[in-house]
Order: sequence, then structure tokens, then C-alpha cells
Amino acid sequence: MTTFFEEVGGSDTFAELVSIFYANVSVDPILRPMYPAEDLKGAAQRLQMFLEQYFGGPTTYSDERGHPRLRMRHAGFHINPAAETAWLACMETAVQGLRIEQAKKDQLWAYFTMAAESLINQLD
Ligand code: HEM
Repeated sequence: MTTFFEEVGGSDTFAELVSIFYANVSVDPILRPMYPAEDLKGAAQRLQMFLEQYFGGPTTYSDERGHPRLRMRHAGFHINPAAETAWLACMETAVQGLRIEQAKKDQLWAYFTMAAESLINQLD
């Protein structure tokens, strides 16, 4: 049985997704101040490892960082609906830019919209 991770091209695809996403974050006025000031590389690695694991690839994320517990890990950030919209906008162009089937893009997008909404922790 193949996994979603393999079907979309493995690590290369997730590396590309995360690279475009963080290029977008680096110029986003709401998101940029929330992420580590010096270097987005560590954040990019954590997101890539998490997504690879989530979609059936290597479990490096949990090996290195333990259980994902995303809501808890985002509790220290002010995530209101505007931040959610900004995050999804950065991710949307990244997903669209991938050279994978549209049905696969739709699957990624369905996950991201669901997950982003679940991480809202402020209403202002
Ligand atoms: C709703 C809008 C979101 C905002 C504003 C946000 C913001 C952040 C910030 C500021 C960090 C810290 C960066 C770092 O790792 O140093 C972070 C970490 C992370 N985010 Fe988000 N995030 C959002 C949604 C999501 C979604 C939808 C996912 C998953 C699909 C996600 C997955 C992660 C992961 C895996 C980490 C690293 C956790 C760790 O191991 O420490 N985030 N996020």
C-alpha cells in the first residue's frame, strides 16, 4: 500500500511546499513577527517533518519532538481569524505551485483549512 507521502513525490514535494510557504510568511505583516526573528529555517524544518509524518512518511517529527499536540504548541501565539486567513493565504499559493494532481492538492487543502481553523485561540 502506498502512502499519500509517496504518491505526491515524497520529501522533495514537502520541501518545496514548505519552502514556498515560508517565503510567503517572511513578507507577511501579520505572520512575520510571530515567527523566530533570525532564521525561519528551524521553523521550516519542524513543519516539514510534521507534514511528512502526518501524510504517512518518516516519523522523524515525533522521534525528535514527541507527540505533535499542535493546539498546545500554538497556545503561546495570538492566532485570531486574521492570522488564520494569513497563514492559509501563504499556504494556498504554496499548494497551488506544486506539480501534483489537482485531487492531491484538494486533499492537502482540505487538511490545512481544517487544521488552521482548529488552531484559532483568540477572537479579536
Ligand atoms: C492558523 C494559523 C497558524 C499560525 C499563525 C501558526 C503559527 C506558528 C508559529 C508562530 C510557530 C512557531 C514556529 C517555530 O516552529 O519556531 C508554529 C509552529 C508550528 N506550526 Fe503553526 N501556525 C498556524 C497553523 C498551523 C497549521 C494549520 C499547522 C499544521 C498543519 C501548523 C503546524 C505547525 C508545526 C508542526 C509547528 C512546529 C511545532 C513544534 O514542533 O514546535 N501550524 N506555528
